[in-house]
Amino acid sequence: MSEFDDAYYHRFYGKDGAHDRERIDHLATAVHHMAAWWGIEIRTVLDVGAGMGFWRDWYRDTHPDVQVRSTDYSAFACRTWGHERRDIATWRPPRSFDLVVCHSVLQYIDDERVIAAIDHLAIATRQLLYLELPTKHDLRHIVDPTGTDLEVHHRTGAWYRRYLQLHFRQIGAGLWAPRAGVPMYELEAAGR
Ligand SMILES: C[S@@+](CC[C@H](N)C(=O)[O-])C[C@H]1O[C@@H](n2cnc3c(N)ncnc32)[C@H](O)[C@@H]1O
Repeated sequence: MSEFDDAYYHRFYGKDGAHDRERIDHLATAVHHMAAWWGIEIRTVLDVGAGMGFWRDWYRDTHPDVQVRSTDYSAFACRTWGHERRDIATWRPPRSFDLVVCHSVLQYIDDERVIAAIDHLAIATRQLLYLELPTKHDLRHIVDPTGTDLEVHHRTGAWYRRYLQLHFRQIGAGLWAPRAGVPMYELEAAGR
C-alpha cells in the first residue's frame, strides 16, 4: 500500500493525476448546488482523507461561512495542508455534518476496517455523503493507470454496496443520502 508522503501527492495530483483543484472546483460547485435544489442548506462539512485539501479550500474561498472540518490519516498531509489527524476506520465522529466528503479514500483501507469506516461515515452524515472510490471494475476498465494509484484494495461495487446500503440510499453521481434523509422522487434516487 502507498506511503502518503510528498512523492505520493505529487505523483497522483495535478493535471496528469487523478484530479486537480480545478476539477474539484467544478464538482464541489455541483454538489453544493444539487444540495440547494433539494432544499439542503450546507452549513457544516466534514472532509475525510482530505489530502491536499481541495474541497476544504473550495468551501473556504466560496462559502467562508460554512464550517469545514478536514481530516486525514497521513501525518505528512496533516502537517502540510492543515488537517486533523484521524483514521476514519477508528475515529467515530462525535457529531454529524450536513455534507460529508470521502473522496478516493476507502480503497486504501482493508476489508475489516473499511466496514467500520463506512459505519463512521454514516454516523457523520446528516444530509449528504459525497463518495468516490475505484472498484475492481473501474481499476480494470475505467481508470487511467498512469495517473491513478493501483496499489489499493480491489473490491467490487457489490461489496461496497452491501455495507453502504445498510445506511444510505444511492442518489447517483457519487451522492448518497441517509435512509431517513431528504425525500427523493422515485426515479431521482436508486432503491428505497
Ligand atoms: C487518493 S488521496 C485523496 C485525497 C483527497 N480526498 C482528494 O480526493 O483530493 C487518499 C487520501 O486518503 C487518506 N487516507 C487513507 N487512509 C485513510 C484513513 N484510514 N483515514 C483517513 N484518511 C485516510 C490518505 O492519507 C490520502 O490523503
